[in-house]
Amino acid sequence: MSDEEIRALMSAPGNDRLTWNTPLSEAHAAQLVTACAPAPGARIADFGSGWGELLMRLVEAAPGSTGDGIETDPEAVGRGRRLAEERALADRVHFHETPAAGHTEGGYDLAVSIGSAHAWPGGTPDALKALRAAVRPGGRVLFGDGFWEREPSPAALEGLGAEPDDFGSLLELIRQAEAAGLRPLQVTVADQREWDLFESAANIGRGERWALANPGHRLHAGVTEAVDARRSGYYGGYRGTLGLAYLVLGT
Ligand SMILES: C[S@@+](CC[C@H](N)C(=O)[O-])C[C@H]1O[C@@H](n2cnc3c(N)ncnc32)[C@H](O)[C@@H]1O
Repeated sequence: MSDEEIRALMSAPGNDRLTWNTPLSEAHAAQLVTACAPAPGARIADFGSGWGELLMRLVEAAPGSTGDGIETDPEAVGRGRRLAEERALADRVHFHETPAAGHTEGGYDLAVSIGSAHAWPGGTPDALKALRAAVRPGGRVLFGDGFWEREPSPAALEGLGAEPDDFGSLLELIRQAEAAGLRPLQVTVADQREWDLFESAANIGRGERWALANPGHRLHAGVTEAVDARRSGYYGGYRGTLGLAYLVLGT
């Protein structure tokens, strides 16, 4: 049994219960699209787009707009291209299987990055700088990133495999955006139900459903162990401590 096989079984792009790979309800997503207000013909880029569901919602909100999804995971890119095809968006939404930091095209009307700040070597400050550089003057940025809702306990840090310095407070995140020359227009955070539904649909739920359906499989014990570890890490650790903020920013 290999960790690689278990990871593949639990992968997010292969999980049809995930609309996107972030704690985000339908209503909250719609509020983000409204706040980003892409205009007809807008050029939109999503860095670390996953399979680009949010990118496609933004493109669908603005007639004649186009989207570039920049994403290194081939499975996510494959799902994104299939979705774009199914929604007749293949000529408007393009996926680039390439690292975010290497996509230096500018002049976008809207640059998005949700849960992907680690795609830049310097993390959040680098991500904000790159997003600021990607948009034209007057353009907008939608940035989703982690923050500590409260001081992380040792169990929270262990559950995430994180260090205390990996995140700051919500106010510190806002200040980082401002330091990059971006002005906050709307700041919202994932609520507890969004988190619980996300964790239940993502690794924990996917692994649990698979294990129940495959009791005799040679990977069963490994998947159950991985699910148990994630469940302890969340419910006994980072639940209510790790936050996810969505910042709609103006230039
Ligand atoms: C937490 S997921 C979020 C995906 C998507 N933004 C969403 O909200 O559904 C982070 C994504 O960043 C991608 N990623 C990681 N490193 C990257 C890099 N260097 N360049 C581009 N994408 C990257 C991962 O493959 C993953 O799809």
